[in-house]
Amino acid sequence: MQIAVALFYLCASAPYAFAQHKGTPYGFAKGVTGGGSATPAYPKDIAQLKSWLADDMARVTMIDKTFDFIGSEGTVTENRCRMKDTCTAANGGQDTIKQGGCDDNETSIQVKYDKASYVGMPVGSNKSLIGVGSKGVLHGKGLRFNTAAKNVIIQNIHIDNLNPQYVWGGDGISLYGNDGVWIDHCKISRTGRQHFVSHYEGSRVTISNTEFDGRTSYSHSCNGDHYWTFIFGGKADKITLDRNYWHDLSGRSPKIGSSEGTQIIQAVNNWFSSNTGHNFDISSSGRVLIEGNRWENTETPITTGSSAAKIWSVPDSSCTSRLGRNCELNALTASGDFPSRKDSAVLDELAKYKTNPVTPIAYGNVKGTVSGNYGIGRI
Ligand SMILES: *[C@@H]1O[C@H](CO)[C@@H](O)[C@H](O)[C@H]1NC(C)=O
Ligand SMILES: *[C@@H]1O[C@H](CO)[C@@H](O)[C@H](O)[C@H]1NC(C)=O
Repeated sequence: MQIAVALFYLCASAPYAFAQHKGTPYGFAKGVTGGGSATPAYPKDIAQLKSWLADDMARVTMIDKTFDFIGSEGTVTENRCRMKDTCTAANGGQDTIKQGGCDDNETSIQVKYDKASYVGMPVGSNKSLIGVGSKGVLHGKGLRFNTAAKNVIIQNIHIDNLNPQYVWGGDGISLYGNDGVWIDHCKISRTGRQHFVSHYEGSRVTISNTEFDGRTSYSHSCNGDHYWTFIFGGKADKITLDRNYWHDLSGRSPKIGSSEGTQIIQAVNNWFSSNTGHNFDISSSGRVLIEGNRWENTETPITTGSSAAKIWSVPDSSCTSRLGRNCELNALTASGDFPSRKDSAVLDELAKYKTNPVTPIAYGNVKGTVSGNYGIGRI
């Protein structure tokens, strides 16, 4: 009887064990359920995938192959801009498909870009989008959340190749005021513009165990490393960045701040490696706890221009009194400076959210933990 029950349990639970998201949303995404217990379904083609993502019905959508969007919406040929200096798409840089004409430092050229990559797929409420093994690839299209869509899980998905030769060529994941988003064990690479952008309405998000791979043949810095990685600029954005791997990037990884209110962010236990430009670039609207992160071979962990932001970055009894635990040290090897920052307004702000702040692991364990766990194919 015991054996029969055990066998039944194994058989009954196996499809679910492989089919739905793994783990539990935490940090600011705590409580997110995505598509919940909806039966996992496998879209047969691009049209079906798009329709399942765009509506507000609770759905668990599985990606078990590469969806190749390149060419699926055609191409655009038009006159846009190229820098007059030597860093252009013709020699390892980027050209620009911005609207509104070229400036004094640019010249007009004809560009040709993929239309599908230029704008992401709409994403509605109550969704889980889950990759199977390491097969969950969206090639040539990102995700663009519907305004105010809620309760979404994106796990084990690789977004790749969004017109990387063009600034504005495409964003990996774009949010528009989305309450409750968990992005976990994903990978983003070769975007034209941002890997991730929250725009101007507030979103509540955790991004965890994700790889931001900046290696590109078209770098705005002309050094093989992607520049325009992140912008968190939403009004009252609440964002957890935990255990992500940020590498071969040259800027804005992340940029935090806008004129739209404050952004409350905990960046904890991230691993930053081989970045040739800046990681944190935070303007005065940022309220950022940066703790337990590991840097190596990174030129500028934080810009000097971040001086007007509110930042906390050191262990101190103020952490214990506000968060009920000490903060964790950041560790830097062969990297630029990270001057200590102690603006307790950051801790006051995070303390309001009680169970949302993540308790860090020790800085000495970050590289080992993140390097064995980041990205796709590991859940
Ligand atoms: C999402 O799911 C929740 C809980 O099941 C439900 O209350 C809500 O109406 C759904 N939202 C949408 C937009 O369908
Ligand atoms: C053109 O380049 C110069 C020198 O880098 C810079 O000072 C100026 O602001 C640029 N102009 C525009 C319109 O971006």
